[in-house]
Amino acid sequence: MLQLQNIEKVYRTDTVETLALRNINLQVDKGEFLSIMGPSGCGKSTLLNLMGLLDEPSKGKVVVDGKSTERLSDKQMAHFRNQSFGFIFQSYHLINDLKVLDNTELPLLYRSSASGQRKKLATEALEKVGLANRANHLPSQLSGGQKQRVAIARAIVGKPSIILADEPTGNLDSTMGHEIMDILLHLNQNEGTTIVMVTHDETMARRTHRLVRLFDGSQVQ
Ligand SMILES: Nc1ncnc2c1ncn2[C@@H]1O[C@H](COP(=O)(O)OP(=O)(O)OP(=O)(O)O)[C@@H](O)[C@H]1O
Ligand SMILES: [Mg+2]
Repeated sequence: MLQLQNIEKVYRTDTVETLALRNINLQVDKGEFLSIMGPSGCGKSTLLNLMGLLDEPSKGKVVVDGKSTERLSDKQMAHFRNQSFGFIFQSYHLINDLKVLDNTELPLLYRSSASGQRKKLATEALEKVGLANRANHLPSQLSGGQKQRVAIARAIVGKPSIILADEPTGNLDSTMGHEIMDILLHLNQNEGTTIVMVTHDETMARRTHRLVRLFDGSQVQ
């Protein structure tokens, strides 16, 4: 489903060069729930961004569903990303002056769905995360766990085959963190959504199928 082949990522600024990832070979199978752990700065977010086609590797290939992505134009890449991936971030990334329902339907705006259809899909996604009764709230009127549930609804509204989550429970207490994990596990088990999750939390990682550890840009497990 998702393959990284001989990936290297170098960040260059005027003065420094950082080798953020070196020689990464990783395959994520359909239906798998994979977690990625490692110390701060070891390259976890960089890896996730490459998987989600938000950034390009300096060397190596990202293959999605058997298709190499290296020769896609920016437009094709954006289309592919919008169709295949749902993203969840530690700090939610909700738009503060949009209601919950409008935040949820954002990924559909890039597609040609009609407004009624978008509202219907967004409402269904909010039902899945137990937040249909907050559709008309603003993000500022929600708890952290509820904000993250909106972010999950937004990630799944377009029915992506892969969810990429960067520390989705990082800002939450353990009870709320486990609630978010329950929702992700449910999506994985019942809808077959493939999930890759970066986490700092061993207990969350233990609930997934497989753990990859990074250290200083290299895969160590
Ligand atoms: N845009 C950038 N420009 C230059 N260097 C970068 C950039 N993004 C990341 N880096 C560097 O690449 C390395 C890996 O960063 P990355 O964000 O992937 O780490 P991380 O494992 O996600 O850390 P954390 O757990 O703190 O989120 C770090 O040394 C970082 O300073
Ligand atoms: Mg990170």
